[in-house]
Amino acid sequence: MTGYGRGECAQDGFKVTVELSSVNRKQAEVSVTLPPKTEMLEAQIRAGVLEDGSVELLRSVGLGARLDKYRRSHDGTVIAWQDHAPFLIDTMKYTGRKMTAYGQTAITEDLYRIRESQAGNIVDDARHVVLTGIDGDEPVIAFEKDGKARTVACDFIAGCDGFHGVCRPTIPSGVLTFFDRSYPFAWLGILVQAPPSSDELVYAHSERGFALLSMRSTEIGRLYMQVPPDADLKDYPDDRVWRELHARFAIDGDWKLTEGPVLQKNLAPMRSFVAEPMQYGRLYLAGDAAHIVPATGAKGLNLAAADVRLLSQAFADYYSSGGTHLLEQYSRKCLRRVWKAQRFSWWMTTMLHRFGTDNAFDQQRQVAELDYLTGSHAAMTSLAENYVGLPWD
Ligand code: PHB
Repeated sequence: MTGYGRGECAQDGFKVTVELSSVNRKQAEVSVTLPPKTEMLEAQIRAGVLEDGSVELLRSVGLGARLDKYRRSHDGTVIAWQDHAPFLIDTMKYTGRKMTAYGQTAITEDLYRIRESQAGNIVDDARHVVLTGIDGDEPVIAFEKDGKARTVACDFIAGCDGFHGVCRPTIPSGVLTFFDRSYPFAWLGILVQAPPSSDELVYAHSERGFALLSMRSTEIGRLYMQVPPDADLKDYPDDRVWRELHARFAIDGDWKLTEGPVLQKNLAPMRSFVAEPMQYGRLYLAGDAAHIVPATGAKGLNLAAADVRLLSQAFADYYSSGGTHLLEQYSRKCLRRVWKAQRFSWWMTTMLHRFGTDNAFDQQRQVAELDYLTGSHAAMTSLAENYVGLPWD
């Protein structure tokens, strides 16, 4: 989380959003507390697909250099369907915009670097973080650092501390409304030391379940497959994962799945969640603290960036002119975009996964969806414009 004003800020579970906002907000004195950097970076190898708006945002806060050097840009994304020819969602053709693959870990490193170069006040590894007075004029962040209790008085707190952070639960019960949907599967992801097998991302719908080929760099691939929600990693040794991925990617196309050493393996539940409103008193929620999307469509990181962009504009306005209009509009404006991304992520997830409850009707409906998509310019444009990112405002 980030405190604004006289305060420092504390964070208990890193989100890229914190840093984006603090980079943008130069006037206020800001500091951030984080769990140990390496622990955090290792836990964060998920998101890797950036909308072009997110790329622009990163550039606008001075984070373009390494991004532009190492990012892989994509004209679109392939959807492969067993027994049907794979097709490209050509975002370039349908929207004139590209997608970018660049790992969240790399963004995190870039954010640290720029913060350190600005002598930003970052406090690593704060423990026992508690917020008080969020409904008053001077919210306080209390935490322990190196065994010592510290408090920080703030004008505002940006709650960017992730789904399991302390910010959202600090809001009194009854204030927030929760919208929640769990999916009956999880994703098992592997990070692989091998050049990506395809130039484009490939989403595969197979009778054995969903699989996704993504990438982190020219040397490192990222692959996912749908597994039962209660799957245990010890039941998925590398050879089983490769066998399963080969079976699910057994589709027409001019590429073959390349194996390589598995550097990391993890499980991620699939869930849609929204807390409304995204603000209470002087606490403003952003990113996963307020909403999570199932990973299909890669909207999580991009939504967090969109929230923080609005929040940083609102803080900038407040500190330059005393205006509170943007702060008042924050939750409403974010949620409009959040709900559209929720709808899209739910739709992609539903279209591409096998649900245990599916009957023959549902399977035909999925095939009809694909048939419609590939045959309709309007449907392709709709998919492409959502995938590449809806307008910011
Ligand atoms: C990823 O590279 O981690 C990724 C890509 C596309 C998705 C989800 C995750 O839809």
